[in-house]
Amino acid sequence: MIDQIRDLTDQFEKDLASVRDMDTYAAVRNKWLARETGLITASMKRLRDMPREDRPAFGQAMNELRVRVEERMAKLLDGLKLAAREQEIARKSVDVTRPGFPYPLGWEHPIRRLQAEIEQIFVSMGFRVFDCPEVETEYYNFEALNMPRRHPARDAQDTFYFDEAALRLLRTHCSTVQVHAMETMKPPVRAVSAGRVYRRDPFDATHSPMFFQVDVLAVDEGITMGDLKGTLEMFLKRIFHPDTQMRLRPGYFPFVEPGAEVDISCIFCFGKGCRICKQTGWIEILGAGMVHPKVLRMSGVDDSRYSGFAWGMGIDRVAILKYGVEDIRLFFENDLRFLRQF
Ligand code: PHE
Repeated sequence: MIDQIRDLTDQFEKDLASVRDMDTYAAVRNKWLARETGLITASMKRLRDMPREDRPAFGQAMNELRVRVEERMAKLLDGLKLAAREQEIARKSVDVTRPGFPYPLGWEHPIRRLQAEIEQIFVSMGFRVFDCPEVETEYYNFEALNMPRRHPARDAQDTFYFDEAALRLLRTHCSTVQVHAMETMKPPVRAVSAGRVYRRDPFDATHSPMFFQVDVLAVDEGITMGDLKGTLEMFLKRIFHPDTQMRLRPGYFPFVEPGAEVDISCIFCFGKGCRICKQTGWIEILGAGMVHPKVLRMSGVDDSRYSGFAWGMGIDRVAILKYGVEDIRLFFENDLRFLRQF
């Protein structure tokens, strides 16, 4: 009788150890504790075939076994449930302490950043950022800027035209802002306009068929060359260096009178003379002048009452000087090793 109980106990321990998951658990539980067919109930039934004096001890031992089986099974079930929950949590949860995926972030192109910096300087002086189209008519790019038909600047060799009649073209400069701004705003006008311009130039270290310009226009009563000089000087000192000197040389542009070429003191040798400034101490940086009376009139501004100054400059050229870049193509080839340096 004792042997029987011991066999049952051993067998139960073995079954218990074989439980891996909910399915094997259910099978073992069924085998031992099923109401009619479970091993516990089945063994109890043997009581009837036993000698009367053995029955109490056997019954008691079987009861103890049943309690033990029930307890062990309940404990096992708790363990299984806990493990299942932990597995579920591990599967679903996010480990916030893990390092993130390094995402390559984009950033502004150096030319565009410089453009924004230039615009900001003029915004701080009361100028308004004024956008002009890249695809222009010959009227806005040439005619209204005092470059009538057959003017040499309109040469098809310099300009990208869209059609035979040469009416649509890619703007060759940002001076179109003079016409657009004066047509849309009444004086006083203070506008800064920057963006891409196009010329049929080669693509080499110092040329590109597409580059960037910024033009500035101020039209009001009593505007003089002094206003042009003062504004320019302040701008050049801010964009290059507070000690930057500048000088104006007479220059010709059809849409200004008088016109000037503006030089800055060489930012590499501070005027002493070096390779960059070709030993002159000066670097040519932009074109400027007083808006031509014809241009004022064509855009509907009374030239007997108003005058204005205008100037235009290559942004890429400023970038090349400011950042010491040797080749303009670097700005447009989008080599990240180059762009990341800014
Ligand atoms: N548009 C001229 C250029 O492209 C620059 C300029 C602008 C000159 C305004 C005078 C006044 O070179």
